[in-house]
Amino acid sequence: MEQADIDRFRQARFGMFIHWGLYSSLGGRWQGQAMDYIGEWVQSRFRIPNHDYAALAGQFNPLNFNADDWVKTAKNAGMNYLVFTAKHHDGFALYHSRTSRYNIVEATPFGRDVLRELAEACHRHEMKLGIYYSHCLDWHESDGADPGPESPKNFGMSWGNDWDYPDHHAKHFSRYFENKAKKQITELLTGYGPVFLLWFDCPLTLTQEQGWELRTLVHALQPHCLISGRIGHGLGDFGSLGDNQHPAGQSDFPLESPNTLNHTWGFKWDDHGWMGAQQVVGDLAALNEKNVNYLLNIGPCGDGSFPEPAMDLLRKVAAWRQSAQVAIQRTQPNPFPQSFPWGWCTVSGKTLQFFVRDWNTRLVISGLRNKITSCTVPFAQSGETLTLVLPERDDSLLPVIKVAFAGELDIDQRLMPQSGVLLLIPSTGTVCHGALAAGTGLTASRGAAAEVMEEEPVCSIDSSGALTQWQHPGDGAGWPVYFPLGGAYQVSALTENRCHSAPWVGARTVEVTFSNQTLTAVLNLDEKIGSAYYSKAVSELGTLHAAAGESATISIKTLGISLKDAVNMNLTAIKLQQLDDR
Ligand code: GLC
Repeated sequence: MEQADIDRFRQARFGMFIHWGLYSSLGGRWQGQAMDYIGEWVQSRFRIPNHDYAALAGQFNPLNFNADDWVKTAKNAGMNYLVFTAKHHDGFALYHSRTSRYNIVEATPFGRDVLRELAEACHRHEMKLGIYYSHCLDWHESDGADPGPESPKNFGMSWGNDWDYPDHHAKHFSRYFENKAKKQITELLTGYGPVFLLWFDCPLTLTQEQGWELRTLVHALQPHCLISGRIGHGLGDFGSLGDNQHPAGQSDFPLESPNTLNHTWGFKWDDHGWMGAQQVVGDLAALNEKNVNYLLNIGPCGDGSFPEPAMDLLRKVAAWRQSAQVAIQRTQPNPFPQSFPWGWCTVSGKTLQFFVRDWNTRLVISGLRNKITSCTVPFAQSGETLTLVLPERDDSLLPVIKVAFAGELDIDQRLMPQSGVLLLIPSTGTVCHGALAAGTGLTASRGAAAEVMEEEPVCSIDSSGALTQWQHPGDGAGWPVYFPLGGAYQVSALTENRCHSAPWVGARTVEVTFSNQTLTAVLNLDEKIGSAYYSKAVSELGTLHAAAGESATISIKTLGISLKDAVNMNLTAIKLQQLDDR
């Protein structure tokens, strides 16, 4: 993989995930019953025999499918790549496969190669085409991956098809791998032009050797095709965060965050929990400022159209992008060493783009040394302090202020408060190891959402920039900080469960030190924040005082934990909020 390929991935910034298949025609319902999990899992949820599930193909005739419409909708919303499910866990190919007749051309009355039409439309509209391929799970095949009856279930469901194929010992994953997965992946990489990336998912039973073989195969056929981290065994070209997981801080490794628009990937009639357009553009800015790509999912209906609430939202995102003239492609992440309490920042050429979530009357930006040549709102610059004077809040989804600067960006890299708030992210600090910690090397395990979680059994920074495994007394993180202004600061800790869909757990006593001051507190759930997928909370820890011009180290350490599950709580930030008026 060349640096130019990684750069292309990063420059793309915003992509559309499309989950579409036979499951879309069921919309999450089977025999009058609605399912309670993600729609593309309907076959496993209801343990639908292959004979009945495959019969859906005989009726699959999505006459409203129009590849140009899909691609243009993505393009208008500012998206720069698509990732389309060529084969999901159900094993049905949405393209003309020569390896298996269980495909859209041969098994449906529709008879069109959807992937080919999409690839051509992508070419016409200069959209990059990515392909999702479930490389281990295949419920249609008797040898599809099945970790077996002893292995933990996926939210109560079987990972592999144990309803049609209950004899676990008769299954040979390597046969499936050789006879279907590798052959279909070869078809995908040889028949549809340049593929931007291959999105593998749920590595489950793949051996490291098979992972290497797959990686080598992909790069031999298309050297510029990037491989998602969910290939397994750390073999991806870019990392895939957990489903709906957002990072704590910036990462050096190319990363992507896959997100749902409601609570499912594949279309579900009964999922009305649609996200607002304001949330979407905020998430885009928040991820991009951390150098992470935002992959936003659409689950088209069984007839090939996008659900109306998704269309409505994408139209609003398109209108926002166009009216605010927002740059998405090729932007750089936030160049300041900390984030802002009122919004997010990206850089496009010689312009800083500030996305203002909380509309105050004055925004104070510290540490910017460049001369400002123009700004879309009135401003005052004095030394390294830039003050933006905001007009009445405009009614756009997320107001964007553009600040043009002269010369190369020159920003004070000391950690200091921004608009009275200092957010300290573990990846910008130093890890402290407690006495009991002993390094035994990096391992990987699977999260509940099938994401691969790195597991350094010692206190460390994970791929999302959070502090993980900080359970031994003395484990923690420290940051050198600088306070241009003195004052009292309210200190709080932001923690997040590293496991998908697991509850927030406190039960940890921490100690915060700064100069000669010490705070000791038990993490409490004082305020829930963020999404339900990775439960997060803010815990108040007490008050610290800083003198004007003071530079010192602030650190947080675990003193002890009283519940085993507290081990799973990552530290995503320490927040210092100035109490005096600014
Ligand atoms: C999980 C689900 C899968 C979905 C994917 C999207 O791995 O099992 O159905 O396609 O997440 O990120």
